[in-house]
Amino acid sequence: MPDYSMLQQMKGAIFDLDGVIVDTAKYHYLAWRSLASELGFDFTEADNERLKGVSRMRSLDILLDIGGLEFTEDEKLAMADKKNGLYVDYISRLEESELLPGVREYLIRLRGCGIGIALGSASKNAQFILDKLNIAGMFDAVVDGNKVSRAKPDPEVFLTAARGLGLQPYECVVFEDAEAGVAAGKAAGMQVVGTGRPEALSGADIIVSGLHEL
Ligand code: BG6
Ligand code: MG
Repeated sequence: MPDYSMLQQMKGAIFDLDGVIVDTAKYHYLAWRSLASELGFDFTEADNERLKGVSRMRSLDILLDIGGLEFTEDEKLAMADKKNGLYVDYISRLEESELLPGVREYLIRLRGCGIGIALGSASKNAQFILDKLNIAGMFDAVVDGNKVSRAKPDPEVFLTAARGLGLQPYECVVFEDAEAGVAAGKAAGMQVVGTGRPEALSGADIIVSGLHEL
């Protein structure tokens, strides 16, 4: 039986976005696959697992490595822009019903207990997604890929989120679905709840299948 006592003591909850609040991985996958296909190689769903929690430019490097291709920095920036254009097309059709199970209920419950709520995401599209899902107003602080310079597993995103909540790191719990994010939460000195596939979450303090379990 997992030890849930850290959840009773937490003063701040910091959520990753992609994979914890909404399943955007499928849209990232479709957009990356389309880029790979234009470049003449296959990109599988198993390959896509390697991109979870990873920044946009680092994801592109992994993709090009899979295809065995090399490009200049300028060419890579243009490719990342193109992929993002396709991705934004998909997420502009996101609906509230795509919130993962239990997310809204859990956020409401935390707010009711006076717990600070922050987002700590690598995505530069985070604010757009929160708006689409109609949950932006539930966050006291939003830290995304536009606000930090070092990608997970660096703890910068979570430390900035804790500061945004006016809390010390040890008072915060991170909710993450990806290996790099779990490592970032632990490096920040926070407790980490891993959500989703246990294979990627071995560093987490507790693992649940989703927020509906809490
Ligand atoms: C993370 C996703 O949340 O954000 C990654 O798990 C993604 O797959 C990264 O690459 C950056 O997202 P974006 O929206 O800025 O391209
Ligand atoms: Mg994630």
